[in-house]
Amino acid sequence: MSWVGSLKKMSIKRDDPYQTIGVSGVAVGTQLTVLARMSERRLRQVSIVAGKSSTLYNFRRVFRKIEMQPSKSQGKKVVLAYSGGLDTSVAIRWLQERYGLEVIAVSVDVGQPGNMDEEVKRAKDIGAANAYAIDAKEEFAESYIFPSLKANAMYEGAYPLSTAIARPLIVKKLVEVAEKEGASYIAHGCTAKGNDQVRFDVSIGALAPSIEIIAPMREWVMTREEEIEYARVGKIPIKVKKETPYSTDENLWGRSAECGVLEDAAQEPPEDAYEWTTAPAKGPDKPEYLEIGFESGVPVSLNGTKMKPVALVQKLNEVAAKHGVGRIDHIENRLVGIKSREIYECPAATVLIGAHIDLEKLVLPRDLLSFKSIVEQKFTELAYDGLWFSPLRESLSAFVDKTQDVVSGTVRVRLYKGSSVPVGRSSPYALYTTSLATYDKGDKFDHTAAKGFIYVWGLPLRTIATAHRSKVKMGEPSGTVVGKVRKRTK
Ligand code: ARG
Repeated sequence: MSWVGSLKKMSIKRDDPYQTIGVSGVAVGTQLTVLARMSERRLRQVSIVAGKSSTLYNFRRVFRKIEMQPSKSQGKKVVLAYSGGLDTSVAIRWLQERYGLEVIAVSVDVGQPGNMDEEVKRAKDIGAANAYAIDAKEEFAESYIFPSLKANAMYEGAYPLSTAIARPLIVKKLVEVAEKEGASYIAHGCTAKGNDQVRFDVSIGALAPSIEIIAPMREWVMTREEEIEYARVGKIPIKVKKETPYSTDENLWGRSAECGVLEDAAQEPPEDAYEWTTAPAKGPDKPEYLEIGFESGVPVSLNGTKMKPVALVQKLNEVAAKHGVGRIDHIENRLVGIKSREIYECPAATVLIGAHIDLEKLVLPRDLLSFKSIVEQKFTELAYDGLWFSPLRESLSAFVDKTQDVVSGTVRVRLYKGSSVPVGRSSPYALYTTSLATYDKGDKFDHTAAKGFIYVWGLPLRTIATAHRSKVKMGEPSGTVVGKVRKRTK
């Protein structure tokens, strides 16, 4: 005797499969165990072979009960951050099956490779009620990348925040769609171990506190293979990319790669971990010089040609990548307490941040540079930690913007076998003054003033030394005496 039950409309709470079932009688324990396992493995179909018809009957009853479970989310709308990849493709169907939600897929173009039209089509083919492709590249460059560039944002001195700063923008777009569509939920494909879930959840809360968040990847326990199987059984049209052993994320400001062999922090990353950049040693044998024009802290031209933000960053990514510039191998402290090994490729970011820092040194006064570095540190941590939409981050950006009034001029950068070095800079606001700095003729510095300045500058220390003389004892001269000290003879 056998029976095949389909779990098409199954709605079992993963963490509590028993709650939806209230059967008693023969072999119930077995049924519950089976169902719990199915639920855990996300199986959608079961064949049951039973000796007794009553057992079969009970199974069917259990299934029917599950199918009838009403859910508070039934029929409501969810806006899903859709990347077109396996996880979020499976998520479209899963959200329908698990929560009975109507799925609105939203793909946000922040400069990652891929075809947005194809993604919209795929989302609809899978069953999304509606799908949006939003080109947010310009907004990303102007309102996320440039503010970060002005703040020279490099998390832990190494990571230009490429993935981190795209998250709040993606959330902004999701919230805009959720408002337009009257959605009650927003879903994203972040896992439970990364920073991105924090950035998504916190930013959603900051922009739309009444929207509920669903993170399928935090809820289901599917391996990649199981997801592929889920897609196969459910006839979900997925595009299983050529097997890449890494988890990657890309946008205008850079590419991140983690997982696979990269998790062995002692090993040099294999060449295939890099996709954007040429190996530095294989870069052109001749250096290439680039002239980057800045206006109020943002790049506006390359080699004298005015360019729009997106085009400029794209062009710079291309040119610098050719020289192997922007490879970063970083042991990173995640907000969730885990240390991780991250590989980044950020050619444009590396060149631009380096050039921007260089120009600032030319035009900003010493105390401002010093204080700004404290602000930069805080800005960077806030952006990394998912607090982009916080009043503190916004206020720090206002401060940074003010500092940029005079950060205009050009920086000449030399690209060569993995390095990007500013080799010349000029600005109408330069504080660097040759007539003050020079040791040659034309020197305008008043040498007689130095003595008086140092008299005043050193006065406190001389005062302390005199007043505390009785406490401070000069010791014997330390060190080794080399050679004989001869007594002077007359
Ligand atoms: N560790 C980086 C960050 O938290 C990059 C995360 C990249 N995500 C990915 N799926 N590879 O910003």
